[in-house]
Amino acid sequence: MAIEQQVAEIEADAGKAIASASDEAALEAIRVAELGKKGRVSLLMRELGGMSPEQRQIAGPALNGLKDRLTATLNARKADLELAALNKRLESEREDLTLPPRFEPVGALHPVMQVFEELAAIFADMGFAVAEGPDIEDDFHNFTALNFPAGHPAREMHDTFFMKPAADGTRKLLRTHTSPIQVRAMLSSKPPIRVIAPGRVYRKDWDATHTPMFHQIEGLVVDETVHMGHLKTCLTEAFSRFFEVPTTQSRFRPHFFPFTEPSAEMDIRCDRSGGEIKIGQGDDWLEILGCGMIHPNVLKSCGIDPEKYQGFAFGLGVDRLAMLKYGMPDLRPYFEADVEWIKHYGFKPWLLPTVTGGLS
Ligand code: DAH
Repeated sequence: MAIEQQVAEIEADAGKAIASASDEAALEAIRVAELGKKGRVSLLMRELGGMSPEQRQIAGPALNGLKDRLTATLNARKADLELAALNKRLESEREDLTLPPRFEPVGALHPVMQVFEELAAIFADMGFAVAEGPDIEDDFHNFTALNFPAGHPAREMHDTFFMKPAADGTRKLLRTHTSPIQVRAMLSSKPPIRVIAPGRVYRKDWDATHTPMFHQIEGLVVDETVHMGHLKTCLTEAFSRFFEVPTTQSRFRPHFFPFTEPSAEMDIRCDRSGGEIKIGQGDDWLEILGCGMIHPNVLKSCGIDPEKYQGFAFGLGVDRLAMLKYGMPDLRPYFEADVEWIKHYGFKPWLLPTVTGGLS
């Protein structure tokens, strides 16, 4: 048979087979049968060596052309099949974006963040704004402006994490409390000032009830006629709302903080008789925060005239408050990023607490 005829037959044959191949495996079988080592085209090519130069001049290009065309047809069919498979998969994975979202509990608000939100809602309702400050502070805002004299032992009490000293010898530090935000608030605005400041704080401490990073909320009120009575009413009311009880009673014990005078620790009435703490009833007291009237030296450091203005401040630990309110026995899982724990104790992030809508 003349070579042209053979080429035409193979091309017609293989063309039909390729067109009707339904998957990649079928295509591969065709490729092997025609172009593989023992394929029809390859066997014909092997005969080129025994041909006369004239025959070879015709048969060579004819066979090479056939090989190229078959390869191109195979590749085109393969691309078509791949595209069809992809379309089929995409069709089966189609998402209807007009459907309403499914609220599955895939993530949750940490109880500490929930308590931040709850207290922010309560204090916002009393006219407080939320202030913030940096986690990395300097000595002035964390200590000096708050009336901690250089070398004062209270600085040591804070077990501070210091940064490496800068070229000028000064050392930045991780803030040991949220009180430096008071200083920033007073330096950047004029009285009357009413702010709360939530934030992370850091101390070198690590045991069952202490973690090197924990959370505080600072409160600050500066005005011309502010007194301890305002402090007491404001905080007592805030904790009744926070613990969602009709009333709480509070008592103040004298204490020392360098930045307040007088200083106090505030306790609220609780009942420990039943194994768990109940707030707002009973004969026991629960220490809840530190507070006091802002020391005149602090006002002065912040550019506020202590003859004209006075104010109160308070600082409370949020982690323990969250443990109390939500019955969590241990502090350490707070920082373990355990999905099961957060599923159990976490809050739905789209249900933010409000004073009117309910806190928890
Ligand atoms: N900064 C104090 C601490 O971390 C807490 C504190 C006490 C803050 C009394 C205040 C305050 O604003 O008036 O121990």
